Amino acid sequence: MSETILESDGLYHVYESKAEDGNVVALRGLHINMKAGEAIAVVGPSGSGKSTLMKCLGGLMKPSAGSVSLAGKNMTRLKGQELVELRQKTVSFIFQEGNLLPDLNARDNVAQPLRHQGVSSKKALAQADAMLERLGMAHRTRALPAMLSGGEQQRVAIARALITRPRLILADEPTGALDPVTSREVLALFKNLHENDGVSFLIVTHSKEVASFANRSLELRDGRFVAEHGDSIDVEDLSKDRELIIDETGTVTLPPDLLVRLGGAGRYTVGNVASGYLSLQGDSVEAMGKMELAQVCPACKYDYLDSDAQECPSCGSSRPMVEVQA
Ligand SMILES: Nc1ncnc2c1ncn2[C@@H]1O[C@H](COP(=O)(O)OP(=O)(O)OP(=O)(O)O)[C@@H](O)[C@H]1O
Ligand SMILES: [Mg+2]
Repeated sequence: MSETILESDGLYHVYESKAEDGNVVALRGLHINMKAGEAIAVVGPSGSGKSTLMKCLGGLMKPSAGSVSLAGKNMTRLKGQELVELRQKTVSFIFQEGNLLPDLNARDNVAQPLRHQGVSSKKALAQADAMLERLGMAHRTRALPAMLSGGEQQRVAIARALITRPRLILADEPTGALDPVTSREVLALFKNLHENDGVSFLIVTHSKEVASFANRSLELRDGRFVAEHGDSIDVEDLSKDRELIIDETGTVTLPPDLLVRLGGAGRYTVGNVASGYLSLQGDSVEAMGKMELAQVCPACKYDYLDSDAQECPSCGSSRPMVEVQA
């Protein structure tokens, strides 16, 4: 099985506000596991939390709760310089627009991430020129962003994102502001990097074309993943009112209340395989730390009291499992 490049567990984000409409819960308990070399599309309506998710995953914003690991390192525990270095080495961002520094010309914009890594100016500019040439921008290396068309600006932004040879690219509607022709060129470039250089992509998109280049897509609605689309996903309807999703690695995600009733995380015996039913025997569970439903919502701090609800009645977040405190 290939290595995990990006993993996130129990990701919540609340935008705090003193205004009358109160806090906005943008992410309500998300889990992502992305293998190195994968391309995943994130789709969903406006306001569903896509940009918030990207910022939390890329370490641009600290989530209210939950963990994010990049290349096996828990980012939520890193601080200052360590976090900056991990990000610089591993991940690049491409936004819909506004990726460039307005006072720097194209080649200086592209060279800048290398300069931040301590590469000499001469070397960085030579590499920037080469990358701009690869993106068909050799003739415009001295132009300021304001003198470039939208598509040209985005190609410079992509050159800037690629110059550090990131293993993961987080892109938030990267072709959203581009005309169809330029947008197809950009997509072809992404495909090439994905297929030939093994670069991983997490792309927020409204475009079918972009989504179809991805190995799978995750659909976000109101801060939660509501569906996963792809070839290798098996959805088993194990009972009338329960859906369990088994992903391509064979991992089953159990709703928290089911997990509690089974006895929590641990080792189970699987019986009855031939019957066509999956039966888990939890009697002799080897506990790995006993889990229970969280007492308090991590997003809005609602107290569940005696309820065994799975969803917070106040903000709608998924209720996570926490380890029982001794
Ligand atoms: N800085 C902020 N302060 C308060 N609320 C915010 C802030 N940024 C986003 N939100 C709110 O969080 C929710 C998720 O926003 P987000 O920008 O992540 O959505 P999105 O899926 O990227 O939408 P779009 O497709 O329009 O870009 C929305 O309800 C939005 O109003
Ligand atoms: Mg957005």
